[in-house]
Amino acid sequence: MNLFIFNSSIGRKLIMSLSGLFLMLFLLIHLTVNSLLLVGPEAFQAGCEFMELPVVTIMVPILAAGFIVHIIYAAWLTWQNRKARGSVAYASGKKSETTSWASKNMFVLGLVVLGVIAIHLSHFWAKMQLPHFMGTEGVPASQAYDLVANIFRNPCWAVIYIIWYGALWFHLTHGFWSALQTIGFNNTTWYYRLRWIGIIFATIVAFGFTGITLFFALGVDKLVH
Ligand code: HEM
Repeated sequence: MNLFIFNSSIGRKLIMSLSGLFLMLFLLIHLTVNSLLLVGPEAFQAGCEFMELPVVTIMVPILAAGFIVHIIYAAWLTWQNRKARGSVAYASGKKSETTSWASKNMFVLGLVVLGVIAIHLSHFWAKMQLPHFMGTEGVPASQAYDLVANIFRNPCWAVIYIIWYGALWFHLTHGFWSALQTIGFNNTTWYYRLRWIGIIFATIVAFGFTGITLFFALGVDKLVH
């Protein structure tokens, strides 16, 4: 059997790209459901109830697997690259666009994103969905709005979350472009297009989440709801 997916560097990059694109799709869905917070408590409750449907919850292990594969392959690729290059980070002194700051720091940026995901899961998922899986009572969808509002009204959490979206922005600008290049969009025309589409995508995600966080942190929710 041809195990090129595991044995070759391009195979490993392909797995990174596909799992990364899958996680980007999750981010878009997550942002869409979270935007209902801006509409009001009832709208967000309806969004949470939809996410609690069995047809959606069945996706949770698949999402977790997507994260695990992405992280394991990231560690593996970084280790292989370091081994290949030895102590010389970049042999050429020239700074090309492909060695942008984000591209050189993808692993560290990924670690920051992952670290805050752990905090984020303890804030929400551990209180809402995990108890369901454990067969105990969690925070119901009707109180999910207040749970989010209480976290973001704490200025320390608001700042930590916004720094997190910044790291996510850098990670996505490079990740989006790199993933699509790996799956075949690698000619000169697509090079610049994808750079821009990646920046636009990352900005929509990071600004979207920042807007929701500031909505509560600055007390706008109390004025409109
Ligand atoms: C305004 C920002 C955000 C809000 C208000 C928010 C809210 C939530 C809530 C309420 C849950 C629990 C859902 C449930 O258990 O039913 C959750 C889960 C989760 N969030 Fe976020 N989130 C935000 C940003 C992010 C970002 C930026 C990421 C990834 C980088 C992320 C990744 C996750 C993951 C992986 C889960 C667990 C899977 C799931 O329950 O869907 N979240 N989030």
